[in-house]
Amino acid sequence: MAATVAATGANVIGVDIDLEKVKAVNAGESPLQGQEPGLAELLKEQVSKGHLRASLEASAVSGADVVAVCVETPIDPTTHDPSYKALKAALAEIAPVLKRGALVSIESTLAPGTMEGVVRPALERGSKRTVGRDLYLVHCPERLTTGKLLHHLTELPRVLGANDAVSTRKALAFYARFVKAEVHPTDWTTAEVVKTAENAYWDVQIAFANEVALISEELGVDAYRVRELVNTCPYRMMLIPGAGVGGHCIPKDSWLLVSPAVQSKPELIPTAREVPGEHGRHAELTREDDDPGAPATRCGHRDPRSVRPLRERLCRLARPQSRDERRGLHRTRHRPRRIS
Ligand SMILES: NC(=O)c1ccc[n+]([C@@H]2O[C@H](COP(=O)([O-])OP(=O)(O)OC[C@H]3O[C@@H](n4cnc5c(N)ncnc54)[C@H](O)[C@@H]3O)[C@@H](O)[C@H]2O)c1
Repeated sequence: MAATVAATGANVIGVDIDLEKVKAVNAGESPLQGQEPGLAELLKEQVSKGHLRASLEASAVSGADVVAVCVETPIDPTTHDPSYKALKAALAEIAPVLKRGALVSIESTLAPGTMEGVVRPALERGSKRTVGRDLYLVHCPERLTTGKLLHHLTELPRVLGANDAVSTRKALAFYARFVKAEVHPTDWTTAEVVKTAENAYWDVQIAFANEVALISEELGVDAYRVRELVNTCPYRMMLIPGAGVGGHCIPKDSWLLVSPAVQSKPELIPTAREVPGEHGRHAELTREDDDPGAPATRCGHRDPRSVRPLRERLCRLARPQSRDERRGLHRTRHRPRRIS
């Protein structure tokens, strides 16, 4: 994103606490691993032109018109609660140096309620400014897939959460610099729900496809043929069964979505999270035995065609071992938490 924005004629400074990433960017090299078409060239060009540099110091953003925050937002592996250590640290570092009238865009994925409960208070406390009056704040979650970063950054529509008209106007102008698709304005919480729901949707669909595959295998029918025939019925778009859910976004974003839900007591989404746990065994085997060059998205599931030759063995291994285990797989562990 920094390189793309720099290519629009802006002066961009990327701040990261990782020294190696800072050094790489300042040397004109991409700090990202894997194939990202066009990124290495774009980054090198923008650094050599002096439009882009990196720094370890958050104070480098003082004077910036726009500050985009895209730090990691993981979940606790045991409780599944959101962990905002990096987000809180980044906000505490940038808030005191933000200039009056700056626009802050949170691009990290957030549990619903985090903009209101965590981000706004942290920025106002740290900057001693008021959001919506002398500081502007939006939530514009990233929509990216590894291997297609530049393409998705510019071509995919975006959802823009803003709670006041000036923030909306400033953010629309900023994203129009490089997003060629539509940017849909809404409020903070809707944007938080949309981002986490789009990944939870994928998670549930994958769990469904895989569960039907296991049922098909138990009954001795071809799961792939079942899926093809299901999709001959209008409005059915069942996914191809695969190795479960991987990457670091899809598995955590379902938990982010349900984490603040108290009265609605979500069951389907946490249960889908548990079902692919069973398919973790598919994934382990896939990693060991599969073609290492097979496409695996960071925020998606491995291309199911890559596990096709292994499917019979994988399905057999993935079946629950006992009725107790089967019951365990369907127990939800969702415990709602207030965001603070
Ligand atoms: N990677 C994707 O394809 C993708 C897609 C959609 C959404 N997201 C979301 O975007 C966010 C970031 O994801 P990512 O994959 O880029 O994570 P990442 O872990 O690869 O990168 C986060 C970066 O933030 C840096 N950082 C942490 N604390 C910092 C601080 N206080 N100051 C400055 N830098 C700090 C880290 O050193 C790291 O380089 C997450 O919320 C993720 O869910 C990612």
